Amino acid sequence: MIPTSTLTEARSPLASPHIQAELTAGLCAAHAHISPKFLYDPLGSKLFEAICELPEYYPTRTEAAIVARYGAELARAAGAGATLIDLGAGNCAKAARLFPLLHPAQYVAIDISHAFLQDAIERLQQRFPHIEMTGLGLDFSSQLALPDIVRNERRLFFYPGSSIGNFTPDEAIGFLGRVRAQCDADGGLLIGIDLVKDSATLDAAYDDALGVTAAFNLNMLRHVNGLLGADFDVRQWRHRGAFNGAESRVEMHLEAAEALTVRWPGGARSFARGERIHTENSYKYRRSAAVGLLEQAGFAALHVWTDPNEWFALIYARPIPNA
Ligand code: AVJ
Repeated sequence: MIPTSTLTEARSPLASPHIQAELTAGLCAAHAHISPKFLYDPLGSKLFEAICELPEYYPTRTEAAIVARYGAELARAAGAGATLIDLGAGNCAKAARLFPLLHPAQYVAIDISHAFLQDAIERLQQRFPHIEMTGLGLDFSSQLALPDIVRNERRLFFYPGSSIGNFTPDEAIGFLGRVRAQCDADGGLLIGIDLVKDSATLDAAYDDALGVTAAFNLNMLRHVNGLLGADFDVRQWRHRGAFNGAESRVEMHLEAAEALTVRWPGGARSFARGERIHTENSYKYRRSAAVGLLEQAGFAALHVWTDPNEWFALIYARPIPNA
């Protein structure tokens, strides 16, 4: 007989009281919402990696093409020997493409999905033995406190992939201001920002034919089950992802396919058929608005590189002294 314990799924420990309170507040709100940071458990990080391979998901390969085409200019602007601080490093593939161009002295990879990050860094350290590497499992969205091991000279923050789009424009300015506050005078920021384009392209990028983005969104419910001890049944939910032109953002939601109740220790929430949980915003900017965000946060956008379609912008910005 196989002991039943080997047949049941390994249960990770529940989240901290703080995280549980954040989750239950969102679930119980009139318009239910869950922060997109909860998309990234180990499986979620792998599903996001798969999204980046999809033909419909243009941001990753467009940004990579910009780096490939303007790498020499980028290297001249940013210079060698920096402390490269990767915000939301994931599998570290984007930073790895910068190493041969920028030759950083230190590489600091930060990601909320810590176990995933650690594996990636170990592999990377073997490929680039001369770069000092550190992985930090941090949620940097609300505060950006860097430990002492992060060198304080020539800090080059790297925020690729248009992750800035998860913030509202006001929050984005606040976040970029906190990055600015951690930059020394010789430091800078290399940021990827997704640009406004036709809605059919955007809709397809966030609701792909294979259903990988649907799995990525739905997996959040499994993650929340683990964090909260909730009983979400993934089969009762549908993925929705589409461009909201009035707000200039793609929205992801999870929609209840039937009337249902979700329970967790100490609480419950009923959903009518068709009722939604808002799980992500991904803001899209015009090029001038992207530059405006940086300026309002105390940066001067020195270089803006784009692809021939102007679908995506890679921007190198320097802190404005005394801003
Ligand atoms: C990692 C936040 C940049 O908004 O495009 C991909 C996440 N969501 N498909 C994005 C995501 C659905 C992605 N970011």
